[in-house]
Amino acid sequence: MKIPTEVLKVLADPRTIIDRDALHIPFQVPAPLYERLKRTFNHMGGKWDGRKTVRAFVFPHDIETFMRDSITAGEFPSRYDVGWYATPPAVVEQILTLAGITDKRPGLVTLEPSAGIGSIAGPAVARGAVVDVVEVDEHRASVLAGHAAYRRVVHGDFLQVDPLSYETGFQRVVMNPPFAEELRHVQHALKFLGDDGVLVSVLPSSITWRTDSAAVAFRKMLADNDGELLELPAGSFSASGTNVRAVLVVVPTMPGHTIRNHGWHLRQPKQLGLFAA
Ligand SMILES: C[S@@+](CC[C@H](N)C(=O)[O-])C[C@H]1O[C@@H](n2cnc3c(N)ncnc32)[C@H](O)[C@@H]1O
Repeated sequence: MKIPTEVLKVLADPRTIIDRDALHIPFQVPAPLYERLKRTFNHMGGKWDGRKTVRAFVFPHDIETFMRDSITAGEFPSRYDVGWYATPPAVVEQILTLAGITDKRPGLVTLEPSAGIGSIAGPAVARGAVVDVVEVDEHRASVLAGHAAYRRVVHGDFLQVDPLSYETGFQRVVMNPPFAEELRHVQHALKFLGDDGVLVSVLPSSITWRTDSAAVAFRKMLADNDGELLELPAGSFSASGTNVRAVLVVVPTMPGHTIRNHGWHLRQPKQLGLFAA
């Protein structure tokens, strides 16, 4: 949900103090603006604590990263619109470690196909990966493009991106896709992996028990390819203002795998020029 401009101004005011779980505004604001602030912070999960020793909006979790990400994005994750929330640093750390993206192995060519404002992609670059990003939202894509950290920034719908628009497959894919279409996103992302690649994604924990055909087929694909599902503790995303229950999925590509990855697409008769155009 967009943060109203006047609320953003207060958040970005150097006098505003964001300290662990509390937001202090130590200056007078007009009553209508105060009401606006209160509505926005309530919506974010904060409550006004008027005790003399506190006098702050207090949240049920540490908000330093949450507010930094929300101010950068100009929006915050809302109970009513779960399109965007930033992956918290502790989960990002796990994703990158599982993907083997470390500063001891710099240069891993990596894709983040629903990159938001770069909460996973940025730390991957910091560990020495060469990162390409895709993001459908215009504003978030412009935040990514403004960083100059990424090799290629695509503003568009990842599900419409052709894997063969990239010359070679990626060594790593790291992602936290929109949960409305998460399996489509992961399945499409697998098409971008090279041989000996690894994909690590956040998924809703319902993937571990859902009985619909897409979920069953997905779990079979994991079983056939030495994939893994790793439960994340409850509250792993609370620092991002959301209570989603999630798991991490790890999918390697290796000799004998059944995944239709970048190499598989490249070897198709059409790509080999066996058919007239
Ligand atoms: C849950 S957020 C996660 C953002 C980022 N991956 C992170 O971990 O912080 C999902 C992101 O996917 C983006 N998204 C949704 N549909 C998309 C699509 N079809 N193609 C590319 N990005 C998409 C949303 O705009 C949002 O920024």
